[in-house]
Amino acid sequence: MTTTLITGANKGLGFETARRLIAAGHTVYLGCRDAERGRRAGEQLGARTVLLDVTDDASVTAAARAIEADGGLDVLVNNAGIEARGEGNSIVGAAELTADLIRTVFETNVFGVVRVTHAFLPLLQRSTAPVVVNVSSGLASLDRVTAPGTPTHAYPGVAYPTSKTAVNMLTVQYAKAFPGMRINAVEPGYTATDLNGHAGTQTVAEGAEIIVRMALVGPDGPTGGYFDANGPLPW
Ligand SMILES: NC(=O)c1ccc[n+]([C@@H]2O[C@H](COP(=O)([O-])OP(=O)(O)OC[C@H]3O[C@@H](n4cnc5c(N)ncnc54)[C@H](OP(=O)(O)O)[C@@H]3O)[C@@H](O)[C@H]2O)c1
Repeated sequence: MTTTLITGANKGLGFETARRLIAAGHTVYLGCRDAERGRRAGEQLGARTVLLDVTDDASVTAAARAIEADGGLDVLVNNAGIEARGEGNSIVGAAELTADLIRTVFETNVFGVVRVTHAFLPLLQRSTAPVVVNVSSGLASLDRVTAPGTPTHAYPGVAYPTSKTAVNMLTVQYAKAFPGMRINAVEPGYTATDLNGHAGTQTVAEGAEIIVRMALVGPDGPTGGYFDANGPLPW
């Protein structure tokens, strides 16, 4: 019996990942910051829900206590994320970037991952096959972002890719610190969700593919890596 928590699972890639992992036999907790949105998603999937705002210590601690009391955790999918657009839904480039904006993005995408991972580490350490999947982005790749002529190079935003590069570093450092766990970063690909106003070119089924694959990884699987559906990505 594998128990899995997915943060930000009431919609988008997290919701689809939950659907697929339930089908694979996991007991899934949908981490949702809004009780009503969580209740609706839980009903749709027949999943358990737990109130969890990744930016809020008390909420994350309470979620960890509740899941611990229910029997523990084997798989953590750090999926909750924001892009934080500017006026008129525009991507905020270097000229407009403020400390407040990047702090907001980091609070969810980076500190949220640390807050949730820290709170659930004691539970994961008691699992016989602990797995962590950090949902990163192809925009995190320094290799790609410095390769002229690619869509990654052309993306003008700063806060979001910077936050996901930090997620990649967290992944590497956690993986080294906990060699008994499988801890990987994944790039779902450009997927039609609310995050990008449904401009993404993939379906959520395609986007969730690598998240699901890395959530199902066994003790002999990779750790400390960065993958999309086609294999390892350049950092
Ligand atoms: N879509 C893409 O093209 C793409 C590509 C690469 C990586 N990603 C990554 O994939 C992940 C999922 O994104 P998505 O595309 O599925 O976007 P989405 O449809 O906007 O879903 C984001 C989810 O995160 C939740 N969330 C946001 N802030 C939260 C917080 N403070 N605490 C708890 N949950 C919070 C949202 O909850 P609410 O409904 O309450 O807002 C929602 O459930 C993100 O990490 C994103 O960066 C997406």
